[in-house]
Amino acid sequence: MKFTKVEPAYTTKDGCRLVWEGENEDDTDTVILNKNELESLVEILKKDVSGKIHLEDLASSIMVNSDVTQFDLQGHRPLEADTFDLQKKVLEFAKIPHQPKYVHISSKEFYPSVWIRKEQKDERSDFSPKRTPQKPSLLQAILSSKPEKTSKTQSETDIFRIFSTRRSTRKFKKSKVEDWKIDKILAAADTAPTAGNFQGLKIFYVKNSSTKEALVEAANKQPYVNAPLVLVFCMDPERVKLKFPQDILDKFSLQDATLAAAYAQIAAAGLGLSSIWIGMLDEKKVQTILGTELKPSSILCIGYPEKKRPPKSRRKLKELIEVIE
Ligand SMILES: Cc1cc2nc3c(=O)[nH]c(=O)nc-3n(C[C@H](O)[C@H](O)[C@H](O)COP(=O)(O)O)c2cc1C
Repeated sequence: MKFTKVEPAYTTKDGCRLVWEGENEDDTDTVILNKNELESLVEILKKDVSGKIHLEDLASSIMVNSDVTQFDLQGHRPLEADTFDLQKKVLEFAKIPHQPKYVHISSKEFYPSVWIRKEQKDERSDFSPKRTPQKPSLLQAILSSKPEKTSKTQSETDIFRIFSTRRSTRKFKKSKVEDWKIDKILAAADTAPTAGNFQGLKIFYVKNSSTKEALVEAANKQPYVNAPLVLVFCMDPERVKLKFPQDILDKFSLQDATLAAAYAQIAAAGLGLSSIWIGMLDEKKVQTILGTELKPSSILCIGYPEKKRPPKSRRKLKELIEVIE
């Protein structure tokens, strides 16, 4: 994989994403730097010296050497970039205003008929969503498997551990959610798939306490909506530039917003937080409170739980899944 570009971060407007690309479009890796991390990197690269940056998760670091810069990041394979190339791209990025990506719609009537313009040149890149091959044996394995006790050696952030231990909370501690955790939750929401990759959603990150109080009222007076971290997921069907009937585009944007909220909820659980999903809300009231035309699909309220509780039980997997042979 080769370091290719620096992009604006979607989550912290002053941070960035460093992108590595491989031989095909699935073979990429992205490192998200927050404002402080980017500033530290810019400082070292400006001075043209070696240096080490410890990232906010306290486990990852970037080592800038004169020839090669090494990225030793938790959850990533080791990444490298040519320091000269990195210096050029990062310093250029830090100087210029960030341009949005333009989406073009071709005259083709069939799906997919869109492509994303690359930042610099007006090159076309085919947009071809790939189907993940289904392995019938996986479902069989799940259906026939016996419940297992969570292994003590399993990592705290093992995705299956997070799924199997997550539990909603309606009573939060007053403590703040750390900024780096908020960044990670928003970045996780941003990784959710969206219809045609048009990101038909918008997330409102509500910091203001009187706005939170107003949202309590708009959510059927559910008091826990006034949580340390409040995210409102809204549908933005206008962003979905696909030639389909409006009801399909609306449905896509509802799914986009819902999936992003689900990703954020799982990320929060992985960071030791808990959450409550709020679907019982008055759309019009929420729109007025947020000053938006976009319809809200859910509010995700996040914080540290007062009490850690075991997950709720579910019906048997065999009852949930019907296998069509
Ligand atoms: C679509 C949806 C809407 C929900 N709306 C509310 C709500 O308005 N208020 C609330 O207290 N919980 C709400 N919940 C949370 C569920 O009650 C909770 O997820 C469920 O009881 C399962 O518990 P668990 O998340 O701990 O597994 C909602 C969950 C979903 C998925």
